[in-house]
Formats: sequence, C-alpha cells, structure tokens
Amino acid sequence: MTQKVLLLPGDGIGPEIVAEAVNVLEALKANHGLDIDMVSGLVGGAAYDVSGHPLPEETMQMARDVDAILLGAVGGYKWETLDISVRPEKGLLGLRSGLGLFANLRPAFLYPQLADASSLKPEVVSGLDILIVRELTGGIYFGQPRGIRTLENGERQGYNTYVYSESEIERIGHVAFQAAMKRNKKVCSVDKANVLEVTELWREVMTDLAQQYPDVELSHMYVDNAAMQLVRNPKQFDVIVTGNMFGDILSDEASMLTGSIGMLPSASLDANNKGMYEPSHGSAPDIAGQNLANPLATILSAAMMLRYSLGREDLAIKIEQAVSKVLDQGLRTGDIYSKGMQKVSTSEMGSAVVKALG
Ligand code: IPM
Ligand code: MG
Repeated sequence: MTQKVLLLPGDGIGPEIVAEAVNVLEALKANHGLDIDMVSGLVGGAAYDVSGHPLPEETMQMARDVDAILLGAVGGYKWETLDISVRPEKGLLGLRSGLGLFANLRPAFLYPQLADASSLKPEVVSGLDILIVRELTGGIYFGQPRGIRTLENGERQGYNTYVYSESEIERIGHVAFQAAMKRNKKVCSVDKANVLEVTELWREVMTDLAQQYPDVELSHMYVDNAAMQLVRNPKQFDVIVTGNMFGDILSDEASMLTGSIGMLPSASLDANNKGMYEPSHGSAPDIAGQNLANPLATILSAAMMLRYSLGREDLAIKIEQAVSKVLDQGLRTGDIYSKGMQKVSTSEMGSAVVKALG
C-alpha cells in the first residue's frame, strides 16, 4: 500500500533543504520502487503568517493522517517578538506533544571523510558513533506551572517546572536500552541527581530498568561532566539517554564533533514508530534563501524515515551510501568545507546525492 509522507518545510533554510530531500525521495520513487505519496503543509512562522497560528488545525490533522513527517526547521528573526504562545517553535513543540513523539533519536556519527572538519583533533573524533536518546515530550519544556508572574514587591519572576513521572522515564529508558542492544550495549544515563530530585528519580528508574537488560552496561553521569566528557573523550559513549533540556544541549554539542550540525539528522518517534524526521539544526535565518545551507542532515533524516517508519532499511542504506560517496568526491557545503575540497551550494549537494544513488 502506498504510504503517505507529510512535508513541513517551515522557515528559514527549511524549504531549501527539504526540497533537496524531496528530490532524493522522488529519485527513489522513480528508480528504486519506493511507494510513497508526499503532501505539503504549513508549520512555524510560515503557518503563522497565513493563519495566525504556528500549528494550524489543518496541519495537525494531516500530521495525524500520514505514516511519517519530514520537517525542515522553524523560527526566524521576523517572529522573535511575537507572544511566546504563537512563536514558530510552539508549532514544533505542539507537533511533538500532540503526536506523542516522546523518543528523539539523534545520532552523532562522524563520516571519516569529515574528520578534518571537526573542531576537535581527528584522533579524538575518528570512528565516533554516538546515539543520543532525548526524551521529547516532558521535562521542563512542558512542565506546569510555568509563566512570568509579578511578585508582591512588584518584581517580575519567571518560572518553569521540571517534572518527570516514572512511566515517562521508563518508556524513554526502554528505547535507549533497546537501541543499545543493537549497538555496543552501553547506555549512559545523564542527569543532575546531585541537585535535582526529578533526576534523582530518573537515576533510580533507569537503574531498576537495567535489570531487564542484563547484556547492557548502564552508567550514570552528571550533565556537567557529560558536557565535558563529550569533548574530552567522546568515543567512550555508545547510547546516551537523557531528559528533554539536557538532550537539547548535549545533542548540539555532540553534533559539532561530527564536523557540523549540518550533518546531524534526527527521528522523533511515538510508541508505534510513527515518526517525525528533521535535521537537528535550526532554521539558520542568516543564510536562508541563499542556496548555502547543508542539505545532508535533512537528506539523512529522510533515510531515518525510511528505516524507522516506512520499513525500507534497504533504501535508507542506499541514501547513506550516496552521502558517503559525495563526501568521497570532495563535495562540501560551506559548513563542512576544508582546504582542497570543492565548495558547493545546497542544490549542487542535493543533486550530487541524487546522482550517487545510481
Ligand atoms: C531542537 C530545537 C528545538 C528544541 C527548538 C527549536 C524548540 O533546538 O530540536 O533541538 O529546543 O527542542
Ligand atoms: Mg536544539
């Protein structure tokens, strides 16, 4: 049966990079038996401009109806002064929570060809292959109460609530342990259990859960130490599991080990592996519309979509091999450029990947 994919290009560089991923998917449809229908919708600032809301009901309805979603990025200078309730980012957060996409997988994999593009020494990063499993629908991002209130003395106070229930911790823990079973069988759970009760519970639940996975080695690390270890000796990690905010921060950090955040795809999955796929980077308004952005994170996100939601591991591998091939050819967008390589635009990079699919 034909599967349905919703494209949500969003803002900034979103439309440019999604267009390249779509070209890759079209080529797979034309030549490699991929059976999908693609429809497009509005999210983020692009949706706000048309409908006054970053996540119109129509988009949410389409998102519920499809098998998988490919998203570009949301946000930009233009919408930064809007009320927080209608900022583009709310569109993204609404999709994540509305669809129950609690498991965010962010692989930080270093293509050997890019060892020189990392800001760390090649010997520190070569062979790097980490999977960050970030809880995506809870924690301080969604905790209640939240807001900005005025105290009796007239001073304003901002507040958010950091909460995790046992069941939320357990289900993300299962995702991490199961992922580790297919990898190097190591899970490092990152918390701040020396200060925050919510992560004291997190640590306890992870420890209990580990008994169900005797083949996996569980370790715990405070988030400040984890941030340091990621640049000191990143290869000690296999799977990292952590809450929403720590995962947001550590995944940006980990992406730089791989040369550029422009290389890092992500999958956000619900309990049934329905998913939304997006590059881990943002909308990069400073280079939007200039054909400069790196489309590889989005193209690799499409590969993750084929693997996790559409049952086409074979085509996922095909895309990943094609990406490796264009890197072998020396093609580099500005963010991963190093001397002696050939600098290319967004569309040139996308076309090269299509060609490399064979
Ligand atoms: C990410 C982004 C988002 C987040 C923003 C755009 C809301 O930084 O996907 O990592 O904080 O989750
Ligand atoms: Mg982030």
